[in-house]
Amino acid sequence: MQVRREEIVVLGTGGTIAGRAATAGDNLGYRAAEVGVDTLLQGVAVPANMRLHAEQVAQVDSKDMDFAIWATLAGRCAHWLARDEVAGVVVTHGTDTMEETAFFLHCVLRPSKPVVLTGAMRPATSAAPDGPQNLADAVAVAADPQARGVCVAFAGTVHGAVDVQKVHTYRLDAYSSGDAGPLAYVEEGRLRVLRPWAAPEVAQAAPILPLPVAWPRVEIVMNHAGAGRAVVDALVKDGVAGLVVAGTGNGSLNQVLEEGLLEAQQQGVAVRRASRCAQGRVLPLPSDRIPAAVGLSPVKARIALMLELMP
Ligand code: SIN
Repeated sequence: MQVRREEIVVLGTGGTIAGRAATAGDNLGYRAAEVGVDTLLQGVAVPANMRLHAEQVAQVDSKDMDFAIWATLAGRCAHWLARDEVAGVVVTHGTDTMEETAFFLHCVLRPSKPVVLTGAMRPATSAAPDGPQNLADAVAVAADPQARGVCVAFAGTVHGAVDVQKVHTYRLDAYSSGDAGPLAYVEEGRLRVLRPWAAPEVAQAAPILPLPVAWPRVEIVMNHAGAGRAVVDALVKDGVAGLVVAGTGNGSLNQVLEEGLLEAQQQGVAVRRASRCAQGRVLPLPSDRIPAAVGLSPVKARIALMLELMP
């Protein structure tokens, strides 16, 4: 007997979409993560033959997102996705670290059903908030049988978890998939799919739940003009397990910084080379002495390395 998928679960975690300001004209001086997910859903159009179920998983400004919330969120996603009647999950989230949470969920869940993250650049109290439309679009994506895997629905565009990056501090259309391009557009509640919607290759190939309580410590360092090795040496002395370097261009490194990283590697610290460029990917060479984090931004390379180093 075929089970009808008739429920979309919306998990709230906070962010500007749940932000409250003193006046409707204030789009900057608000407090993020104050309005409950139930309230955010009031007035959101429910796709035909679907019902919504809301659950507040956290209530944070996403700059303060942490491993404990990630573990809880992954667990709640897995719980709901396993239910036959659930078509997909929507996660409301602050925009600042949404791409990290999306990539983390992609790595640990590998879901075949859609998990759609969304948020807003303006608070819920704004005279012209973008949250309600973004949330309606995310629900439409989660209900669409063409959608699968973890993605971000924002400003009418659907981005894959691996490629999505916040690229603007203020504009409503704040995300880009770089040269990979978006997966789809959402037009009046309908998906216009642009390219195959398959989960690209990342470090982890299968779901890895439940997660351990202790996460390996992985830090990000950056190459820049005049970069030295003092930060790397201090982190190694402090017991770091892994380092991701945000290199220049194709992951190139100042020679003093590179010496520090190579020494760290010799001492057992796992090191990966990403690029601080907003677009493109680090293209590896056989002569590389520090492995490239191919196709991952520094923040996503950090997540991949943490998962790789997990006991
Ligand atoms: C946050 O990331 O929680 C605050 C900023 C935003 O959601 O736009």
